[in-house]
Amino acid sequence: MKTALTDMLGCQYPLIQTAMGWVADANLVAATASAGGFGFLAGAVMSPAEIDASILEIKAKTDKPFGVNFHMYVKDAEEIVDLCCKHKVAAVSYSRSPNAVFVERLKSSGIKCIPTVGAAKHAVKAVAMGADAVVVQGGEGGGHTGSVASTILLPEVVDSVNVPVVAAGGFKDGRGLVAALALGASGIAMGTRFLLTQESPVPAVTKNQYIAARPEAINISKRLDGLPQRMISNPCLSELEKSSALGMWALAIKNGLAFAHLTNTSLFDMLKSAWKMSRTGDISVAQTMMAANAPMMIQEAMVKGHPDEGILPSGQVAGIIDDIPTVEELIQRIMRESEQALTTIKSYS
Ligand SMILES: Cc1cc2nc3c(=O)[nH]c(=O)nc-3n(C[C@H](O)[C@H](O)[C@H](O)COP(=O)(O)O)c2cc1C
Repeated sequence: MKTALTDMLGCQYPLIQTAMGWVADANLVAATASAGGFGFLAGAVMSPAEIDASILEIKAKTDKPFGVNFHMYVKDAEEIVDLCCKHKVAAVSYSRSPNAVFVERLKSSGIKCIPTVGAAKHAVKAVAMGADAVVVQGGEGGGHTGSVASTILLPEVVDSVNVPVVAAGGFKDGRGLVAALALGASGIAMGTRFLLTQESPVPAVTKNQYIAARPEAINISKRLDGLPQRMISNPCLSELEKSSALGMWALAIKNGLAFAHLTNTSLFDMLKSAWKMSRTGDISVAQTMMAANAPMMIQEAMVKGHPDEGILPSGQVAGIIDDIPTVEELIQRIMRESEQALTTIKSYS
């Protein structure tokens, strides 16, 4: 299936595997690329050295194009831009606080810039800054998300910009792909669906919690780091929801110190990049203080395999996913389903 997106990225199918911290590793990205989709490496939770090694690992596994996701406001951002240019990755994705100088540099190296947005006004701004395409994440989506559903947000963005638009948030199959194309998208981007594949590095015990979850139990809360984030209800999230203000501060300090130790970052550097973001109006001072909660508590579930003691970021779509196929099986199935859906629609006329 050829669309403006496949033409731009050089992939076979209009299917993007999104970046997910501690999930979208080199192996998952390479599997997606080899199967004809387009994967983004979750560089936002990696050091430049780890990104470098992961890019080399992907290139050793596939000669197909892929992308890197990172935050443009962090202190290592320039080094990551250099790495993307050096390795000639096909695309980069980013969200909050984009940097016009970096966007310009990446584009002049032939790298496509594809930010994720959650509102039409942000899509317009991103395109004015040079975005080659935008991923529009509806409120159903996993991770940090907004409140407007894909069915409303997608056509609004399609009508507001003149670059290819990719639909994200709530997609898992070929019916969804056809629906998104009908609403004007050039493809779909999926996070949770790729988290639940064989190649995803998430421990089986944690994947099983996603499979068991019902859609009603996957809700948005700000209690993790002050930003709206969709997560599966579990004992850890319930504790967070019940915590007093004092308890939240104690947790923020504990996780802040652990995160600084883990990433070899000084508390000063952490606070500096958080301060930069609060100055741009992207997060508040309270959110700044809670910023380390997410990495520490997500890793507990996603890396260490303790789903009840950590946090489970998830799209609502996990509630209707009930299998863990290989990436190749998943992509082939989605393309088969989309053909069936198109045939059914054509039979109506
Ligand atoms: C476990 C998890 C981790 C995520 N981590 C990131 C991240 O590091 N960077 C990012 O831009 N988006 C992140 N997201 C959001 C996804 O990239 C994507 O936009 C979203 O999952 C799409 O919705 P879906 O899950 O319904 O497919 C994450 C989502 C999940 C479920």
